[in-house]
Amino acid sequence: MNNKKIQSTLALLLLAASTNLWAHGDVVPQAVNTDGLEPLGEEWLEENPYRDNPRAIEIGSSAYNQNCAACHGLEAKSGGIAPDLRLLELGAMGDEWYKERVINGAVRDGRVYMPKMADFLSQEALWAVRSYLESVHVEE
Ligand code: HEC
Repeated sequence: MNNKKIQSTLALLLLAASTNLWAHGDVVPQAVNTDGLEPLGEEWLEENPYRDNPRAIEIGSSAYNQNCAACHGLEAKSGGIAPDLRLLELGAMGDEWYKERVINGAVRDGRVYMPKMADFLSQEALWAVRSYLESVHVEE
């Protein structure tokens, strides 16, 4: 580990400890206010309907920091614990993979690496997070 990596890992641990978000494996998702976004209903869309929508990016930024950052890193800069979500592919292909992950999470051999976030957050909130992630996208 280089210094930068150690620093960001420490920051992540501090964040996790201070928010206590994922303690004991219980998911305590933070409510996301999606007022101002077009309601989408229960059925999941194939593609992000809010791409480039400034309100969605704003909502998504705060929703990300409250619900995803403990594992994926503040401002989506991963400290190495979970994938760096700034690298997710832009557009429809990235949407498909994003949707798959937030609905199904990542569970292997009975271990929950990532909870099924769509059980806790609305489709509106999760597409807002996706809009935010696209706004901070970087190429590998
Ligand atoms: C408890 C930790 C945790 C939380 C909270 C979490 N994730 Fe994850 N996420 C992971 C891990 C670990 C992986 C890698 C899964 C694997 O190894 O298959 C992952 C993978 C992903 C992927 C696939 C990335 C890729 O490059 O393949 C996406 C997309 C994703 N997460 C989105 C989110 C979003 C959006 C949130 C918040 C709404 C979130 N995650 C919250 C731990 C978490």
